Amino acid sequence: MSLELRVARPDDMEEIGRLSDQVFRAKRGGHMADEFPYLYDPANAHHWYVAFDQGRAVSIVGAMNWPVVIAGAATRAASVGSVATDPAYRGRGLASQLLQLAQKQLADEDVRVMLISGDLSLYTRFGARAIGWVDWYRLNPDSKKAPTPYHVRPIDPLDDAPVVARLNQTRGTRFGRSLPQLRAMLASQPMTQVEQGTKVALMVMAEGQAVSYLILNHRPFQGRGASRLSEWAGDPKGVLSALRSVQNWPEGGIEVPVLRDDWSLLAELRGSERVRSEPVSWLAKVIDGQGLSQDLQTVWAEVADRPLAILRLGEEQYKVRVGSEQWSVDAAELTEWVFGTKVPHRPASLECFWPIPSLWPEGLNYI
Ligand SMILES: CC(C)(COP(=O)(O)OP(=O)(O)OC[C@H]1O[C@@H](n2cnc3c(N)ncnc32)[C@H](O)[C@@H]1OP(=O)(O)O)[C@@H](O)C(=O)NCCC(=O)NCCS
Repeated sequence: MSLELRVARPDDMEEIGRLSDQVFRAKRGGHMADEFPYLYDPANAHHWYVAFDQGRAVSIVGAMNWPVVIAGAATRAASVGSVATDPAYRGRGLASQLLQLAQKQLADEDVRVMLISGDLSLYTRFGARAIGWVDWYRLNPDSKKAPTPYHVRPIDPLDDAPVVARLNQTRGTRFGRSLPQLRAMLASQPMTQVEQGTKVALMVMAEGQAVSYLILNHRPFQGRGASRLSEWAGDPKGVLSALRSVQNWPEGGIEVPVLRDDWSLLAELRGSERVRSEPVSWLAKVIDGQGLSQDLQTVWAEVADRPLAILRLGEEQYKVRVGSEQWSVDAAELTEWVFGTKVPHRPASLECFWPIPSLWPEGLNYI
């Protein structure tokens, strides 16, 4: 049997949607392409990697290519999802080969890191690794109802998108989104739809100025799950004050993820219970270490006492040079060294530079 593995074209999207629904929506119904319109947009076809058997899609990998800012420096990352193989074709290496194809194509588009949702051995074999930890805090309701300087109002997706973009730019590590993408995300957050919650998007004002915004996935799974803060920026006091003003808390309360960059939020969460600490639910793989080190040179130059270089030695192989020391690593080790938090052999000098766990890609595939 000869299979064709290639980058998709716009007119392949129907086949891709069919296989995706067969694998992911057989039990619950609905269409993946409706739930994740940007990922499945024919304009995004060139970020799909597909195996065809006589015109039928039998294995797929989907991606979106994003500008990303890490500690103030611009680079690119791809979020990868909707990885599926027709049950009759599993265990033959198709998904693995498509991940390799994705990696090559995305690296040609200057993507330095792939972020993959889920935690399968398929992905760790590919070289993806856990990149950091998130501490979850359960917010306490404000029992005193003390007056606050904040006025909270719903976000208008059309008019408020530029303000949301400006506030988001105050985060040192973040994903970039165009205004149309941001408007689409503010208008409907598919992650919330998928989890059957209600999206609450709030602007926090003080003295007539927008000081912060937040998006809450409220009462997911028909109120059986805890509400979850999925995105925020700006004044953290304003964010927590706005969350406390939200009506109709579920039994599990509101949970707030705290990432490495979120120290200002953590300071305001004093007294709240830390309910769990877990790896970020996405794996990462550095697919162009040399390009990444070039993109982040300014960050490096600011904080390092010795120069750093990452040089590509060959397929998946790198040399890491810090001052006069050097190490040879493969792509998985490089990913751990650069972005992991608990790596025994990492040179200490790598530790503080790239706090990528602050990238929080929840729902990003799905704007
Ligand atoms: C996960 C999924 C996409 C894997 O697709 P696949 O095409 O079977 O993937 P591969 O063949 O590359 O790898 C699957 C297994 O086959 C094995 N394998 C790969 N090539 C092989 C070969 N030539 N011969 C025998 N076995 C092989 C691999 O070791 C792998 O085992 P592992 O998963 O225990 O590590 C598929 O099982 C699927 O669609 N699952 C349901 C949807 C899903 O869960 N998607 C992921 C969302 S996060």
